[in-house]
Amino acid sequence: MPATPVAGPATAAIDPLSFPPGFLWGVATAAYQIEGATAEGGRTPSIWDTFSHTPGKVANGDTGDTACDHYHRYRTDVTLMSHLGIQAYRFSLSWSRIQPGGRGPANPAGLDFYGRLVDELLDAGIKPVATLYHWDLPQEREDAGGWTERATAERFGEYAALAAEALGDRVDVWTTLNEPWCSAFLGYGSGVHAPGRTDPALALRAAHHLNLAHGRATAALRSALPTAQVAVSLNLHQVRPLTSSPADLDAARRIDAVGNRIFTGPMLSGAYPADLLADTSHIVDWDTLVQPGDEAAINTPIDLLGINYYTPAVVSAPTPDAAAVNHAHGESDHSPWPGSESINFHLPPGETTDMGWAIDPTGLYDLLMAITHAHPGLPLAVTENGGAFPDVLTTADGQVHDHDRIAYLHKHLAAVHQAVNDGADVRGYFLWSFLDNFEWAYGYAKRFGAVHVDYDTQLRTPKRSARWYSRAIATNSVPA
Ligand code: NOJ
Repeated sequence: MPATPVAGPATAAIDPLSFPPGFLWGVATAAYQIEGATAEGGRTPSIWDTFSHTPGKVANGDTGDTACDHYHRYRTDVTLMSHLGIQAYRFSLSWSRIQPGGRGPANPAGLDFYGRLVDELLDAGIKPVATLYHWDLPQEREDAGGWTERATAERFGEYAALAAEALGDRVDVWTTLNEPWCSAFLGYGSGVHAPGRTDPALALRAAHHLNLAHGRATAALRSALPTAQVAVSLNLHQVRPLTSSPADLDAARRIDAVGNRIFTGPMLSGAYPADLLADTSHIVDWDTLVQPGDEAAINTPIDLLGINYYTPAVVSAPTPDAAAVNHAHGESDHSPWPGSESINFHLPPGETTDMGWAIDPTGLYDLLMAITHAHPGLPLAVTENGGAFPDVLTTADGQVHDHDRIAYLHKHLAAVHQAVNDGADVRGYFLWSFLDNFEWAYGYAKRFGAVHVDYDTQLRTPKRSARWYSRAIATNSVPA
């Protein structure tokens, strides 16, 4: 069956559905979203414990206290991955499990948990891919200013060194940060994520300190593990102007600056983009914030860029009522876009997922090609892609017939395939997510898993999509 058409030039491929040999097929999760056991093994609270226990912050009052109970069930979870043929598992380490409070010596019980998980993965022939930070800052660090303070970047480098020393003999692919845009702009700008602060200046400070943290962690990993592969996972926005009017094009440029180039600029090119600095100079004093040597530290080369993609962003020129219009589309009262607060966001026509996000695989293709053109030769991986759908465990047969998720995965894998054919060096794909889990401010209401979780019984049921994904892995191709 031909690949689903996506934007871009057509290419002649012998087998349009097969990926190159060695293409890595994985699944992804994050510590706070699945582990539970938040008060066990010496773990101290993170900002997500505090936030989720604050009334009104998470739908239905859900918290990660138990989540998927993966902390106790990791063995059977790995067995399930193995049955599905998963080749790589991208998981995150909880900073406050490994280094309670975010400083000082490592906590042996915390390291032991991840050591046991990694051993289990290796025994099952699954490659561990460890993310150092997936949004769960130790609360004690937040009390000291969190990401708005430079010291947090320094502490993060120390934490990275502890993790590398303990797990580096068995983990050779590391990701420093997951989606720092969300940590900075949803955490400190719109406040819909922990720690729930709403100040554009703090959001920009957080972005710089997250960049610096990436640089410090990369250096720590390199020095402890000279042969390890170091990556970062960015939720790059595929920004599209609503029309080709100069005003809409400028809106797209601004969102690209504060949504993407604020990270890729210093990380991949060694400097913050001039237009970003100009757009936001009335909010933050960049000359004081960015100290000599910071950009060089952030620009420490990486081996792989992780791209997390779900949906494109369609924008148009600022209008005075943009906040109200975007709010009506589900945005927060506060903007996560410092310097671009009045820009309008539009939902493209067509299908959406249960998150209300437009389903558009051309965005993934375009993103992979744009990065390839901007940074030729940079190895890429899709470190997250997937969809939430209103899954139902059918009582008649006990199955989840999630054909909508299969269709989503099919289209997006076809887009990745086409990007590979057109020259993007994409090394692997990680489905978000292995299990249904705690979807941040949406709690357990949204299900992204290939495996259904019954939160009352903790029963795992692979959905039809999990079987479909197994076939993709087994054939190294996009199944019909
Ligand atoms: C990206 C985040 O990394 C992950 O934690 C989240 O669950 C998914 N997007 C879906 O929103």
